[in-house]
Amino acid sequence: MAAPQPTQAPAAPLDMVIFGGAGDLSVRKLLPALYMAHLHHTLPESTRIHALGRQAWDRAAFTQFVDDKVRGFIDPKALDDAAWKGFLDRLGYVCLDATQANDFTALGQALQPGSDRVYYLATAPTLFTAICGNLHGAGLIDERSRVVLEKPLGHDLASARAINDEVGRYFTEPQTFRIDHYLGKETVQNMMVLRFGNTIFEPLWRSPYIKSVQITVAEAVGVGSRAGFYDGTGAMRDMVQNHLLQLLCIVAMEPPVSLDPDAVRDEKLKVLRSLRPMTVADVARDTVRGQYTAGASNGDKAVGYHQEANVPADSTTETFVALRAHINNWRWANVPIFLRTGKRMAERRSEIVIEFADVPYTIFPDAPRQPVNRLMIRLQPEEHVQLQMMAKEPGSGMRLRPVSLDLDLESAFSVRRAEAYERLLMDVIKGRLTHFMRRDELEAAWSWVEPILDAWGNLNEKPRAYTAGSWGPAASSALMAREGSAWAEEA
Ligand code: BG6
Repeated sequence: MAAPQPTQAPAAPLDMVIFGGAGDLSVRKLLPALYMAHLHHTLPESTRIHALGRQAWDRAAFTQFVDDKVRGFIDPKALDDAAWKGFLDRLGYVCLDATQANDFTALGQALQPGSDRVYYLATAPTLFTAICGNLHGAGLIDERSRVVLEKPLGHDLASARAINDEVGRYFTEPQTFRIDHYLGKETVQNMMVLRFGNTIFEPLWRSPYIKSVQITVAEAVGVGSRAGFYDGTGAMRDMVQNHLLQLLCIVAMEPPVSLDPDAVRDEKLKVLRSLRPMTVADVARDTVRGQYTAGASNGDKAVGYHQEANVPADSTTETFVALRAHINNWRWANVPIFLRTGKRMAERRSEIVIEFADVPYTIFPDAPRQPVNRLMIRLQPEEHVQLQMMAKEPGSGMRLRPVSLDLDLESAFSVRRAEAYERLLMDVIKGRLTHFMRRDELEAAWSWVEPILDAWGNLNEKPRAYTAGSWGPAASSALMAREGSAWAEEA
């Protein structure tokens, strides 16, 4: 006879509450991600999605809005009439001004009794304090509630601390999910497996066997309609402070003792704290700020940053950053780390390139002058890992030519790959914090970035111009050349 099973309490229903529910992020990313989870039956049956906003809509008006606007952000192959209707049935809408305590009564009435609650704050961070305070005032936070904080989390260290303090009055750290969607990307998570699920790289994953590391997040798009946000932010705050530094942490961290959230985040924190602080002289020498001018993108004419809608004519906001960083620890001593990101670059390409050391002495007179072994990890648009090796060119003589061992992750696994937001939303629902930033990580990242921003302010130089559709200002190549390296597309 089968052993009696322990009786399990039925799972509580789930309310997913999105502040800024009709905003850009919700329309482009969150609602499509929740639809995909609904379609693939990973969203718990009892989930209700409540969008909150200031528009005086009822549920019917909101579902009409979603029907009109959100479909376009879903892969047409995934649109299924019955599933879409089922998804719309899960939606609710509450008209709410986040600063008005009274409006939270209506929210409380809309939530399911005894539910688990996820509060997703997809609004300007200036509203976070009011939202958390009013949720608390209305008795809508308990120990099972979770809060998801969207970037930008602050404009500098002091504002990041202030947000963390305010949110921390109402939610404990384990209830707080600071999202960086790069941590939800399949290949980024795969980096952990590549490094810690294999033995062949780890002994070489250090100075002096690694000559340099480069991390590029290049975008082909321009600022689009986001100048209102972007012009006061710039590439350093928008991309480097969060996405690029998080990628760097995964490349550079020591093996964590387990996948436990704090075990992983402790190691990432150590990397951030080991970044060598930059002086004004370092900033002048080792950083490049750029801004795009008119050019072409994907074969079409592209206007310069100054001609984009809502960009002030004298804006000096950077749309490109390249810099050389150093990590002050035994593993990375003397290994330059190059970070680069920009809008309106030659193509959309995110990749990490590990350049291994040159052979100490070559016996091949015809050996080409180029990097010998490189590990290239492409995050997007396609996902693959390439290991460049030297091989003998067939024929007489001993001519060397680089060839690559290719791992095409998309064809190696023919399973659906969830988008970053879908994966991270499921993590929030399941309470898995490993791929979210802890407070101390966020603040350590700001502590390193802030002096660079201050030095730029003091140096008061205009960003260097680069043509839309190029790989950035020439000074970015020069930064690499000084170290005897080159960006992957130039090597
Ligand atoms: C966001 C930035 O965090 O990341 C945007 O605010 C940027 O400016 C975007 O375009 C890039 O994300 P992805 O996933 O398209 O590389």
